[in-house]
Amino acid sequence: MNRKKIVAGNWKMNTNFNEALELLNFIQINSTTSPQVEKILFPPFAFIKSIKDALSITNNIKIGAQNCSEFNSGAYTGEVSADMLKSISCDYVLVGHSERRRYFNETSEQFILKIEQALLADLKIIFCFGENLEHRKSNFHFKIVKTQLNEVLSRLPKDKINQLVLAYEPVWAIGTGETASPVQAQEMHLYIRTVIAQMFSEELAQNISILYGGSCNSQNAKELFDCPDVDGGLIGGASLIGPEFCKIINSF
Ligand code: PGA
Repeated sequence: MNRKKIVAGNWKMNTNFNEALELLNFIQINSTTSPQVEKILFPPFAFIKSIKDALSITNNIKIGAQNCSEFNSGAYTGEVSADMLKSISCDYVLVGHSERRRYFNETSEQFILKIEQALLADLKIIFCFGENLEHRKSNFHFKIVKTQLNEVLSRLPKDKINQLVLAYEPVWAIGTGETASPVQAQEMHLYIRTVIAQMFSEELAQNISILYGGSCNSQNAKELFDCPDVDGGLIGGASLIGPEFCKIINSF
C-alpha cells in the first residue's frame, strides 16, 4: 500500500491578489515540509500563475485549479481549458465539487468530459462527491455515494483511475461548521474503498487516496486523519486562515 497523504486548500472565490500571495507566503514559511504529506493549494484561476511563480522550490507545494472546461478549446466564452492549466504548470484540478453541482447544475456527464480533458492534459484530478442531509437522514448515503462514483468512474479508462484522488465531502458538512465524526468518515471511506475494489481491483482500492472534506479544521483534523482509510483533507474555510491551515497540515 503506497497511498499518498494529502492536505489540500480550496480557496474558492476568496482572496484578492495581495491576500492570495500573503496567504501563500505564510503557508510556505509555517507548514512542515514532510515528504510524506502532499500539500495542494487551489487558488482562484486569476492567481494560479502568480502563485505558481512565487513558490519556493524547497516547500514542495502543488497547485491546482478549482474547475476546468469540459471542452478542449474554441468559442466557449469565459471557460478555461485543462490544456491552458497545464501550460502554466498547474498540477491538479478539482472536478465534481458540490458547489459546482448545486450552483452551476453540473452533472456526471460533464464530470466525465472534464476528467477526460484533464487526463489528456496530464493533470491530476481530485474528484469530489458526497451525500446531502436528506440522503443522510433517510439512510441513503451509501447508495448515493456509490451512484455518484459509478456514474463517473465506470465511464473512464480503467488504466487512468490511478490518476484520480477521491474526496468524500458530505454536503451537510461543507461550510456548515458541522463535521462528519471520525466514525462516520471512517465507515464511509472504507465503503468507498470497497466500491472501488468491486469496480476495479483490490490493489487500486488500497492505493487510491481518499480525502475527507467538510468543515475540517485544526481542532478535528487529527482525529479525522488518524482514521485508517482517511488519507487527508480537502479544506475550504479553514484553508483561508494561514495559522489554521498550517496547524491542519502539521497535524498529520
Ligand atoms: P469547508 O469546505 O471546509 O469550508 O467545509 C470544504 C470544501 O468545500 O471543499
